[in-house]
Amino acid sequence: MAAPNKQVLIAIIGAGGVGKCFLSQLSALATRRPSPKLSLCYISTSKKALYNDDYTPIALDGTLEALAASSRSPPSLSQVVDYLAAAPHKVVLVDNTSSQDVADHFPTFLRRGINVITPNKKAFSGSYGLWQDIFAAAAESGASVFHESSVGAGLPVISTLRELVETGDRVTKIEGVFSGTMSFLFNTFAPTSGAGGSWSAEVKNAKALGYTEPDPRDDLNGLDVARKLTILARLAGLPVESPTSFPVQSLIPEALDSCTSGDEFLERLPAFDADMERTRADAEKEGKVVRFVGSFDVAAKQVKVGLEKFDKSHPIAGLKGSDNIISFYTERYGSNPLIIQGAGAGGEVTAMGVTGDLLKVLARIG
Ligand SMILES: NC(=O)c1ccc[n+]([C@@H]2O[C@H](COP(=O)([O-])OP(=O)(O)OC[C@H]3O[C@@H](n4cnc5c(N)ncnc54)[C@H](OP(=O)(O)O)[C@@H]3O)[C@@H](O)[C@H]2O)c1
Repeated sequence: MAAPNKQVLIAIIGAGGVGKCFLSQLSALATRRPSPKLSLCYISTSKKALYNDDYTPIALDGTLEALAASSRSPPSLSQVVDYLAAAPHKVVLVDNTSSQDVADHFPTFLRRGINVITPNKKAFSGSYGLWQDIFAAAAESGASVFHESSVGAGLPVISTLRELVETGDRVTKIEGVFSGTMSFLFNTFAPTSGAGGSWSAEVKNAKALGYTEPDPRDDLNGLDVARKLTILARLAGLPVESPTSFPVQSLIPEALDSCTSGDEFLERLPAFDADMERTRADAEKEGKVVRFVGSFDVAAKQVKVGLEKFDKSHPIAGLKGSDNIISFYTERYGSNPLIIQGAGAGGEVTAMGVTGDLLKVLARIG
């Protein structure tokens, strides 16, 4: 049992969709779990920062209003490292951004004994050198790093894979739908029963419903899925160099690569509907549906991302809404994979993964 006066300081970078939900989950957790006392010592966006030089805690109610009213602009990341490393208690840094710059500083935070938790994919799917440096830094200092929500949001994908590997199972293959946007698009474009609309109409509809990035090309280029596959493949022991070092099928017609805006892209997309219609019809002829999946095969050392056809009875074909599905094929599970399925996006579930990571850190240090 932790001493009643023991404190752990939390520093948050990023207060957007996930950051806001994390703040409210942190506030509830701090009330439910009085020891160790969880105190917020730092919070910033790219424009504002809120912290006290003497580490006096920031109130966990009204935090966003106080941040908005703060006159402090964010210090440089090396200053943040120095500030947190000099704190009088153990510190957990929560990176709720998608910033490469913040991710590049993880080794420095970790070497200085600052624990890191994050849903940010950039650190774990960028260069293999950064990946190695992050885990080497954590091993050197004993600080923890957890990133459950970087794949499948709050779904227990990374913790499951880690446990499979660490308990001595041999992962042979992982396959799944890793993007909520791609899931929604194909579940509506090529449903297992009934008919979908034209490809361009489905993309427009998905955008209108808030399922795509402001420029849908950021979803359709496949890079988000490639990043998630890179993370999982590395955890399973494949030293994947980068998310562009294996085949990734982009659904952006080459001629539309140069569109200057997402709106121009959507205007011109109907001219390419025939291509996707052919793909849908080819699958239909075989009694199948097309889905955008990522997979890696450990024995073949093969990672790939793109369109594949599935029998209508296959769990990947029967996905609903914008859900993710991840199948783990391992020696222990044999030919019936361990399957994890559910919402793979959304502020609350993503923040849940981050809060879960915080609990893991507290179990180690609290
Ligand atoms: N939303 C989801 O469903 C989901 C699911 C899984 C994973 N994730 C991951 O979770 C992370 C956060 O996603 P989100 O949806 O919350 O994004 P978001 O709404 O765009 O919020 C990002 C926040 O980070 C801040 N920020 C960006 N760069 C920064 C920097 N260099 N220094 C300080 N603050 C910075 C932004 O501040 P400004 O507003 O001032 O720019 C904003 O407060 C991303 O890595 C995302 O990939 C999200």
